[in-house]
Amino acid sequence: MARRSVLVGSGTCLPERIVTNAELATRIDTSDEWIRTRTGIHQRHLAGENDTCVSLATGAARSALENAGIPASDIDLIIVATSTPDQAFPSVAVRVLGELGISRGYGFDVAAACSGFIYALSIADGLIRAGNARCALVIGSEIYSRILDWEDRGTAVLFGDGAGAVVLRASETDGEDGILVTHLHADGETGDLLYVDGAVGLRDKPGVLRMSGRDVFRHAVAKLASSVDEVLSSCNLQHSDVSWLVPHQANIRIIEGVAKKLDLPMERVVVTVDRHANTSAASIPLALDEARRDGRIRPGDLVLMEALGGGLTWGSALVRF
Ligand code: UT7
Repeated sequence: MARRSVLVGSGTCLPERIVTNAELATRIDTSDEWIRTRTGIHQRHLAGENDTCVSLATGAARSALENAGIPASDIDLIIVATSTPDQAFPSVAVRVLGELGISRGYGFDVAAACSGFIYALSIADGLIRAGNARCALVIGSEIYSRILDWEDRGTAVLFGDGAGAVVLRASETDGEDGILVTHLHADGETGDLLYVDGAVGLRDKPGVLRMSGRDVFRHAVAKLASSVDEVLSSCNLQHSDVSWLVPHQANIRIIEGVAKKLDLPMERVVVTVDRHANTSAASIPLALDEARRDGRIRPGDLVLMEALGGGLTWGSALVRF
């Protein structure tokens, strides 16, 4: 019996502070109307002084473990997708192992910007299938508010902070649930369309996010459309087989474009961009957790996830629940 990874739990951790578009418009030359109509964003959660990438990741991990009904001691792998670690090292993942009191197993971070969760899910699935892990936490945790140029209205209004997590468990039983396939892509030639102009550890240049929004938008619509077709056809599945689309939450217009390409009504698309804005690698697990907990995603459903971000990196994953 082939070994596969089954998603058995999910969790969320959002900072308490909610900032509406109207509140941002008192500080930045923008308006609620512009932000809503161009992006679908109404508000975002922003980290407080005491929130860190590790504290949000740990909160999401605890919430996912509780949801899965398993103790932290079952976990032997943690992968954290993040572009906003608190330190160059130790990795956020190893800090979370420490916070959870796990003294065996291993962990590391993945840097693939907004596609980070799909990358991390793909790596965890590969390690589980290869027999190198039995039970993994895959976490997206981001504090983009600390890498934004708050003078740049073209980017400052787009992002939020938060963390989401899933628990994957190895299964060798009969059954069709689990991660069916993941596909990853990157194109280094488009690296200057969305980047941070510094890095953790550079003494006077921690860096802020820079984006050519219109170009990234164009790439997102085209690349995500071909990516979702690629994962479906690799499993001999049709658009009509998809129960739920759980997309990266960057812009409602990009999300609607991919749904249209799939002939999927928006009622079958999980949308959180209105309340969370773009939380980069955290956005998919946050949306997935919401739809699992409120009963939209049910056993047997086929869930398609997709994301595109800085790199450019992009990819998709197909999961049967
Ligand atoms: O998650 C990683 C991937 N990221 C993405 O997928 C983001 C992709 N890009 C986008 O979502 C969109 O391109 C944006 C939301 C970033 C921008 O929307 P747009 O419709 O492409 O607007 P634009 O950049 O073409 O700007 C249109 C106008 C400009 O004014 P002019 O030159 O037409 O007079 C901007 O200066 O809107 C102006 N503008 C704003 N106005 C009010 C830009 N930002 C703002 C703002 N408030 N915050």
